[in-house]
Amino acid sequence: MGESPLIFAHRGSSAVLPEHTLPAYQRALDEGADGVECDVRLTRDGHLVCVHDRRLDRTSNGTGRVSRRTLAELAELDFGRWPDSDVPADPDRGRLLTLDRLLGTVRDAGRELQVLIETKHPTHHGGDVERALAALLRRHGLDQPRDSERVAVTVMSFSALAVRRMRELAPGLPTALLMELLPSTLRGTLPFGARIAGPGIHLVKARPRLVRTLQAAGNKVYVWTANEPDEIDLLIDLGVDGIITDRPGFVLKHIGR
Ligand code: G3P
Ligand code: CA
Repeated sequence: MGESPLIFAHRGSSAVLPEHTLPAYQRALDEGADGVECDVRLTRDGHLVCVHDRRLDRTSNGTGRVSRRTLAELAELDFGRWPDSDVPADPDRGRLLTLDRLLGTVRDAGRELQVLIETKHPTHHGGDVERALAALLRRHGLDQPRDSERVAVTVMSFSALAVRRMRELAPGLPTALLMELLPSTLRGTLPFGARIAGPGIHLVKARPRLVRTLQAAGNKVYVWTANEPDEIDLLIDLGVDGIITDRPGFVLKHIGR
């Protein structure tokens, strides 16, 4: 067995606290996660916010599309209603989280951490998401790996187009291509310079050899979203490089860290 994989908190510690909220991310950092995963969307006035769905309905008391609202309008909504939280008194429990604030929080943790940023539906915005992301990362000094910097960013997408755009905008930034379906032919080479492959756990269960194929071609393999003990055991046996989970505290205990 090789090195222990990196453990990433998927939308924060989202099995126990409302996804994409600051308390969920803070919990993950306190639990000792190696990094966090965050989905980003663009508001009507051009801010990147940490929201998974295109619509507001599942995770907030709002309705309609995220991209039709301004940051100020979204800030009025309650994002802390799902799932039930055990920290009702936390003022950030239901507050919309911006990527800007998440990056500041991760940096304030004062240790080596990774942030996996997933851009959603890039084709609907003609590159605006990637341009806003590149500008924000530049402002934080995170648009490329630096020796002096303890926080490292990877941009991920299911869209090869988004990976290509990020490559053009921030050539030094690591990128990951997420995979929901098995490619019909796979020699392990990823498009547009992506060096991290992100297959779903369902793909790895269906074809465990996928991990070896991708790694043999020089890629790291980060698998999402693995929450159950048998899934974690499988991924450890296969020697994956990263596990993206809703339960980082549980997974870290399970693997003896
Ligand atoms: O980490 C990748 C994973 O988050 C992709 O699926 O739907 O949870 O964004 P989704
Ligand atoms: Ca995601």
